[in-house]
Amino acid sequence: MESLNRAIEDARMRYVSANPLSMTADKSAERYLPGGNTRTVLHYSPFPLTMVAGEGAELVDLDGHCYVDFVGEYSAGLFGHSDEIIKSAVHKALDTGIAIGGPTAYERELAELLCTRFPGIDQIRFCNSGTEANIWALTTARLVTGRSKFVAFRGAYHGGIIKFPDGPCSLNIPFDFILADYNDTEGAEEVIRNAGDELAAVIVEPILGAGGNIPGNRKFLEMLRQVTREVGALLIFDEVKTARIGPAGTQGMLGIKPELTTLGKFIGGGLTTGAFGGSAEVMAHFNPKLEGNWNHAGTFNNNTCSMAAGCAAMSKIYTPQRAAEFFERSEAFRISLNEMFAAKAVPMYANGMGSIIAIHFSRKPTKRTADISAGCRSLRPLLHMELLLDGVLVCSRGDLFLSLPMTEKHLSGAKHALEKFVDRHKPLITEVLAAG
Ligand SMILES: Cc1ncc(COP(=O)(O)O)c(C=O)c1O
Repeated sequence: MESLNRAIEDARMRYVSANPLSMTADKSAERYLPGGNTRTVLHYSPFPLTMVAGEGAELVDLDGHCYVDFVGEYSAGLFGHSDEIIKSAVHKALDTGIAIGGPTAYERELAELLCTRFPGIDQIRFCNSGTEANIWALTTARLVTGRSKFVAFRGAYHGGIIKFPDGPCSLNIPFDFILADYNDTEGAEEVIRNAGDELAAVIVEPILGAGGNIPGNRKFLEMLRQVTREVGALLIFDEVKTARIGPAGTQGMLGIKPELTTLGKFIGGGLTTGAFGGSAEVMAHFNPKLEGNWNHAGTFNNNTCSMAAGCAAMSKIYTPQRAAEFFERSEAFRISLNEMFAAKAVPMYANGMGSIIAIHFSRKPTKRTADISAGCRSLRPLLHMELLLDGVLVCSRGDLFLSLPMTEKHLSGAKHALEKFVDRHKPLITEVLAAG
């Protein structure tokens, strides 16, 4: 659409002239990194900002602009950029040896913290990322059940090689996935029952993240729990992002206990890690003291810096009480955004739950991926650019992740930037959505 393209072009021109140093840095990075990039989600047009420093909930870019950071490292940055408790835990770990090829007290403490926190995790194993955690969980389900099919959901993201943005992805690991629609209780039940005794597991994000931060409804998730049990398949909750919701993740909030749970992002205090855990019965297969155990390898599984940072983060900062308070505070912010959108009668909605938010161009909450209109998708680059130009860093697809160091000033500043966006572009938004 002509008017939308013009508005995006205008915002990009202002962005280019405000960020000459980031533009040059991006250009020169193209020599050794394809497109100057090593993590596709961090690319956006015309070029991404190069960040040089972070403090609390703020980031500074190469051209000297300061941003309130709602990208929040796609939810891993829960603790912000400079938490003293985490920094001193990492320094202490570094002082006692960088890479120690033996078990340490850190992974034992972190394992206890996580197992006592998440109802579905009796025992746990660490790895290096959320992607890895999901590969381990899927593989575990295959071996436990002796079956090879999986049900996953359209719009789901379980890692760079386990994603289903618009159906299957050519980069995906060659596992046998059958896709169903998220929050479609009857349709998904039929898919699961049809797979029947060939089904190893259903893997689900309790909030569909990259697909639009769409909360799974209780009926849908309870059906998954019930029907997987009936057909003898495992239920895998990918709580890589959602473990931050409340004191015990969404499984704690909903009272649904999966056989396997995957974790990552914030559980290492912002450092590299991932984990998969589940019932003692399933996890016993990884017990190296037992005959015929499964060998779970990984050089950096228990790397001391991540384990030490995770211990400090989960025991001293993100205690269950702090997590409950953070959820309430974040949810109040999300609701306040929706009140503002409603008061301005603009078709925008802050989807999600607690500190996991996505701005959609729609009057109503988005409950299914199919509800996301082409108009909504095409307006995202404009929202992204305008917020950046106003000092509010959000994900290019419209996600906002809140972090613990955010102050009321940060939150009200972001709300104000959104209000300005609405005041400037409401007629265009209405026109684009009306065009379909
Ligand atoms: C729900 C979910 N699962 C898995 C992953 C993969 O985690 P990682 O990027 O650490 O491999 C992500 C990453 O965004 C995620 O959001």
